Amino acid sequence: TPFVVAVDGPSGSGKSSVSRAVARHLGAGYLDTGAMYRALTWWCLESGVDLGDADAVVAAARELPLAMGADPDEPGVHVGDVDVTEAIRSSQISGRVSTVATIPAVRSELQLQQRDLITVIGDELGSVVAEGRDITTVVAPDADVRLLLTASEDARLRRRTQELHGGTDAESVERTRDEVVRRDRDDSTVSSFLTAADGVSTLDTSDLTFEESVAAAVALVDA
Ligand code: CDP
Repeated sequence: TPFVVAVDGPSGSGKSSVSRAVARHLGAGYLDTGAMYRALTWWCLESGVDLGDADAVVAAARELPLAMGADPDEPGVHVGDVDVTEAIRSSQISGRVSTVATIPAVRSELQLQQRDLITVIGDELGSVVAEGRDITTVVAPDADVRLLLTASEDARLRRRTQELHGGTDAESVERTRDEVVRRDRDDSTVSSFLTAADGVSTLDTSDLTFEESVAAAVALVDA
């Protein structure tokens, strides 16, 4: 059976970059489950599905022609023939993804697809690192290693602002605060990704550099 690493955490915790580095270290495949919620949101907007119509969004989730690249160096996302890797990171998608992700039947459908993908990638490559907000608890509670990345709100905002706006001046930080704090609040109504479940290791990256965070995560995985 494949070796599975499950990583959860809020935005700006370092979850994606650390997960990819751990996957590289292990020679494992990589699965970004947040990108799946983002791709579904993109597809709904693209095909005129009303995000307020839960049944229509669920139907879209079942039909979504999604292809997730498992290479941690280049995790491409395709919907049908369209490469949406960049498009799903837009502020338009970030502002709406929680609406999609808080529909219970959408979550169960994508969680099913995520378990399948973990099996397929794991069977092919021997190991897989999957990251999101409910991987340690719902998608892969039996994972070999389960890790929750946390960071202070300040540290998370600073990282996110740097990523989104290329600088951390006060105005950019405030703009990011609106987006991130609201999304975390909406998301936390369905999954409690801010505290570790039983048996899940916590890594607080507030005062760690990227390299230090990776080293700490790798130490847990290699232990
Ligand atoms: O940009 P950030 O890293 O914060 O988020 P992401 O990992 O790209 O996930 C985008 C959105 O997908 C989140 O805000 C959640 O609404 C949703 N999500 C989820 O509900 N469950 C997951 N396992 C992963 C993401």
